[in-house]
Amino acid sequence: MNPFVTIKDIDQAADRISKKIKITPKVALILGSGLGGLADEVLDPVILPYQDIPNWPVSTILGHSGRLVIGLLNGVPAMVMQGRAHYYEGYAMDQVTLPIRVMQRLGIGTIIITNAAGAINPKYQPGDVMVLNDHIALIGMAGLNPLRGPNLDEFGERFPDMGRPYDRELIELATTTAKENRIQLHKGVYVCLSGPSFESPADLRFLRGIGADAVGMSTVPETIVARHGKTRVLAFSGISNKANLDGSTETTHEEVLAAGKMIVPKLTILIKGVLESTEF
Ligand code: HPA
Repeated sequence: MNPFVTIKDIDQAADRISKKIKITPKVALILGSGLGGLADEVLDPVILPYQDIPNWPVSTILGHSGRLVIGLLNGVPAMVMQGRAHYYEGYAMDQVTLPIRVMQRLGIGTIIITNAAGAINPKYQPGDVMVLNDHIALIGMAGLNPLRGPNLDEFGERFPDMGRPYDRELIELATTTAKENRIQLHKGVYVCLSGPSFESPADLRFLRGIGADAVGMSTVPETIVARHGKTRVLAFSGISNKANLDGSTETTHEEVLAAGKMIVPKLTILIKGVLESTEF
């Protein structure tokens, strides 16, 4: 028996969604911990709770509403995931990334991913935003690559290139929008760990040593699957806390959600700016 997600599982979910919507979404947005507020910007939304979509992983985490919101965002037909599932919740990597496959099947060409992350770079402060210019797939290197299992040839090749995971043109547009709106936007490297425990001081020193600027528990598996299917990716980290390199403070999920309130207005401006400045 094939224990991996199949094209049939993906199409079951895609069919359910396409029966409920009249528009053809072009851009997808994934909203991370405490960042769901951006979905309020969608006009005339069709809202589908994740439970109503076959095979769709449901998030169990506070700060993740678990709804798909489909409609116009700044005039662009968009599909917004308000909340996401994570590996640490018990899902397999191909289940965590099934939504990406479904959205690819529905014709999405670009995915904008957001996450909450801890700052490793000492220059970053809680409330700051970082655009990802690369990532370290530590969790993939440790064996948890979402493409493990039979290759889904409908989407892409067995050994996809990962030389440019994040789209340079979209990063440029985000940078311009940030400048125009006087938003400080860091550019950096995100490392994905499995979680759910936060990092120890020695973990953090290691992550700093290997070149990470921010650390979180998502995004990289989604980006790998997106790039396997040649979907363009733009990703932002909302910095929710400083890395606790000397063990002197505690990191909490409440802190992560509270920082989201500072970050959502900035992300809203950045994402709307990008949507306005190019064709999708
Ligand atoms: N570590 C890992 N994931 C996170 C953090 C962190 O400090 N903050 C928000 N998500």
